[in-house]
Amino acid sequence: MTLMNLAWSKTFLWDVGVNHLELLPIYPIKSEVEMDETMENVVKKLQEIPKYQELYKKAFGTDKITGQLTLKALSQFVVMLTTSNSKYDKVLRKEEKFTEMEQKGYDLFKINCASCHKEPLFTNDSFENNGLAVDSTLNDIGRMRITQSEKDKYKFKVPTLRNSQFTFPYMHDGRFNTLNEVVKHYNSGIVKHSTLAKQLKKPMHLSDDDRTELVAFLKTLTDKEFLFNPRFSFPRENN
Ligand code: HEC
Repeated sequence: MTLMNLAWSKTFLWDVGVNHLELLPIYPIKSEVEMDETMENVVKKLQEIPKYQELYKKAFGTDKITGQLTLKALSQFVVMLTTSNSKYDKVLRKEEKFTEMEQKGYDLFKINCASCHKEPLFTNDSFENNGLAVDSTLNDIGRMRITQSEKDKYKFKVPTLRNSQFTFPYMHDGRFNTLNEVVKHYNSGIVKHSTLAKQLKKPMHLSDDDRTELVAFLKTLTDKEFLFNPRFSFPRENN
């Protein structure tokens, strides 16, 4: 049950409501805050690259590159991206043990974080306001952009924390560079707003040690086999 699909774009994952797998790739292509492209133009660019004609022929038996086949190829790639070999997974499978520090971090995590970052995927798939100060230049209203409802103002999709050691910068706008800064935010940087999640209304009172332990736990969610799998790396010219 610890499989996790990773999407390749933060905004697309975090304030949208796209459900059907084959349509997922269309959103980041079209969205004006992401690629701001048209499917037609993407297909046209692919058609001009001989390498892709070859690859489409191999995969689909035709060198006629279409939007539909492109979306199919992209969604197949995304469903292949599963991560289930972090230390956390191995501890759950009783193959490894947490250090004392990681175990303390896990206990703190369950109390303070797991209501939103729910195990084993480390997200509850909902939208929440996690108390970030509003960035007055971007003024991204989050989920409200989609629903037009005031009650969704500043709510963002709860992201998974799997592999978050490597997903910096953090939050929808990349405002934090380290996990330490993120934990500090939750401990002492929460900004009150009418849509702020109720779990975050009371201060967490985490000591310096508590914060170090929490970060040690978060790092157990790193799956290096997944992250450094050459099949998922940037394609090289000659393969
Ligand atoms: C009320 C729900 C809620 C709680 C409780 C919560 N979070 Fe979050 N968390 C969120 C949301 C929503 C985001 C995304 C915000 C955004 O996109 O700007 C987030 C983002 C993050 C990120 C950034 C991930 C990334 O890849 O950018 C980290 C790390 C994180 N939380 C860790 C924690 C930790 C550690 C705790 C406990 C101390 C915690 N969270 C408690 C809702 C919550």
